[in-house]
Amino acid sequence: MKGKSKLKRIAMLTSGGDSPGMNAAIRAIVRVANYRGIKSFGVMKGYKGLISDEIIELGPRSVSNIIQRGGTILKSSRCEEFEKQQGIRKAKVNLERNEIDGLIVIGGNGTYRGGYDLGKVWSGKIMGIPATIDNDLYGTDYTIGYDTAVNTALEGIDKIRDTADAHERFFLVEVMGRKAGFIALDVAVSGGAEEVLIPETKTIVKDICERLCAGKKKGKMSSIIVVAEGNEEGGAFEIAEKLKKMSGNEYRVVVLGHLQRGGAPTAADRLLAAELGAFAVEQLMKGKSGVAVGKVKDQLIITPLKHTWTKRKKLNPFLLKLVPILAT
Ligand code: F6P
Repeated sequence: MKGKSKLKRIAMLTSGGDSPGMNAAIRAIVRVANYRGIKSFGVMKGYKGLISDEIIELGPRSVSNIIQRGGTILKSSRCEEFEKQQGIRKAKVNLERNEIDGLIVIGGNGTYRGGYDLGKVWSGKIMGIPATIDNDLYGTDYTIGYDTAVNTALEGIDKIRDTADAHERFFLVEVMGRKAGFIALDVAVSGGAEEVLIPETKTIVKDICERLCAGKKKGKMSSIIVVAEGNEEGGAFEIAEKLKKMSGNEYRVVVLGHLQRGGAPTAADRLLAAELGAFAVEQLMKGKSGVAVGKVKDQLIITPLKHTWTKRKKLNPFLLKLVPILAT
């Protein structure tokens, strides 16, 4: 970490659904920037704060004792105003007024799109850091917060398994994942689920019903079906209704919901946040802009922001095949 840069003042924001490890990323950015003689600023409430000029100076002490905290000290939001030209223009004016020359946007798809649109009108440098529990961003194997969310969901499934076994019941457990089945697939395999229903594969309720009945005949008296909230045939409640109509059996439903977004980040998420935060500052100093940092096959890389939504990260096909085999 040597060398001088023209960069003097960088700002950062967290936007969209919060994810555990966002604070660890903020801490890394601020401390690496400070080490390199660059001033840091935090934009409050994501793009909303950029429009309303809620920008505060951050120093190494303002990020003390946050590495272990979920959520984000900068707060987050989903900002409709920023989807319009008027909002983007206001943000540009505020960035210029605060003499910011680099902006790091921490979040998922929507956050990156916002950064991309801002880059069309603002001359400063823009860098994305992937942070969403959904893990649905191209350009990185894992997003910050994903590992924690998977572990949180898994803890829930382990508990549900106890009561499912005690009462010999069938449970549908809905996990987050608006458009992607990453969380669902990982917890299905690591939690020993019988079925996994995700948006990436076709859900045929009749087949699921038949497999569950066949399992019962073989002595499987309880089952866990993991459903991604974005599953194309419906969420856990809808699937439970359909299964009940077909089989006459009762199904219990648990929606894990927002608890998957909270809690202390795991070591893996803190490490990823530290590396990507530091790497983002280094890349900005090198003059890179309109890109997102990521880690692919253990290498730190950058990817054009646009590719992160025009290209699609694939689920692990081997894991997909394993679910029914391991459930026999
Ligand atoms: O950010 C990801 C995510 O947690 C999705 O999994 C979920 O669909 C969505 O956010 C929920 O968003 P909100 O908290 O705004 O309802």
